[in-house]
Amino acid sequence: MKPQTWPLFVVAPPGLEAPLAAELGALTEGAVKIEEGGVRLQGDLLDAAAICLWSRCAARTLLIVGDEIPAPSLQQLHASVQGLPWRTFLHPGQPLTVKATVKEAQFKRADAVEHHVLVAVEEALRKAPRQDGPRRWELPTVELRVRVRGKKATVSIDVGGGLLHKRGYRQNLARAPLRENLAASVLLAAGWQPGVPLADPMCGSGTFTIEAACWAGERAPGFDHPMPILKAPNFPTAKWKEIVSEARSAAKVPVGSFYAADRDAGAVRATRENATRAGVVESLRIDNRSLGDPINPPLDAKPGLVVINPPWGLRVAENVSLAPLYHKLGAALNKQFAGWRLAAICPDPALAGRLGRGLEEITRFETGGIQVGLWVGKLGRE
Ligand SMILES: C[S@@+](CC[C@H](N)C(=O)[O-])C[C@H]1O[C@@H](n2cnc3c(N)ncnc32)[C@H](O)[C@@H]1O
Repeated sequence: MKPQTWPLFVVAPPGLEAPLAAELGALTEGAVKIEEGGVRLQGDLLDAAAICLWSRCAARTLLIVGDEIPAPSLQQLHASVQGLPWRTFLHPGQPLTVKATVKEAQFKRADAVEHHVLVAVEEALRKAPRQDGPRRWELPTVELRVRVRGKKATVSIDVGGGLLHKRGYRQNLARAPLRENLAASVLLAAGWQPGVPLADPMCGSGTFTIEAACWAGERAPGFDHPMPILKAPNFPTAKWKEIVSEARSAAKVPVGSFYAADRDAGAVRATRENATRAGVVESLRIDNRSLGDPINPPLDAKPGLVVINPPWGLRVAENVSLAPLYHKLGAALNKQFAGWRLAAICPDPALAGRLGRGLEEITRFETGGIQVGLWVGKLGRE
């Protein structure tokens, strides 16, 4: 019998839905649909867990238990939630938390929604016929997410047990690090793929080059996620163990050229330690040098992608004073990486314009609470 499938909503860093959709399309070989803030697809419990194991771009994976259920009032929401098939996913007494967002509804308070949903799910679990199962203290806490829009609500289970960007390797942080899934999404959006030489001459904690090397080495990013869904009643544990063991044996030495440099010795140390934890340090060349200083010995790679996430200011005045720095960065990049493609993260078109001629903003997204652009183009035109 074919396992039952459910709608899955995989959350993307806002603005980076397209690379997530491309990744999920390749991972699942099924239909994926971009929606605001993420990607929707259909999958069974194993598919949902496999996305948490293999997706580099996902921020969170939600399994939708109740899609657009009637919620014209709190009482009706309560009844609708109670009628959902909770025993497929949860055990009686399972510790639960609920997070709700409410917009354009008759009722405004998210905490009231959270309370009603929690009680309704607990009641539904108590009503179901008793079966022997794990004790409460053996069960992981499951987070439920509720989204009320107007008179409808969508109720989901957080499959991965929280945000998926943490891979476990990045324990040493330099200044202003990017989230790992955001770095992977930027690489994908900029057209990088395994085999293309990659250079990050302002590497900070090394996120871009480590993500790229792990990708090239087919290392699954999600072994450390707690994934409460694995304890669902009737979860196909034996099949999952096979999937995890296949993922472990898929990992290989990354082939390719990965160059990371930073002028700050602390950032270089952080990159080296993080890459060591990720198991890819042997594949990276890591230099302590300022962009503009000669690369010695020169890179022996054919032209590939240079990716940079230079410092920027939060205010226009700060960005005006950063203009000479960007001009210098642009001159160094165009000289040292002539013929390479550039992908640069920068909030300000005037600053980005100083990095090279003809750069094009291919998307905007949020990082550290501000909107930034992803600028791409060819280096060496100056
Ligand atoms: C925003 S951080 C990069 C963060 C990085 N993408 C990450 O995820 O960890 C910018 C980095 O640029 C480095 N930097 C600034 N000016 C530089 C220069 N002229 N040459 C090399 N590195 C520079 C800083 O030391 C800092 O580590």
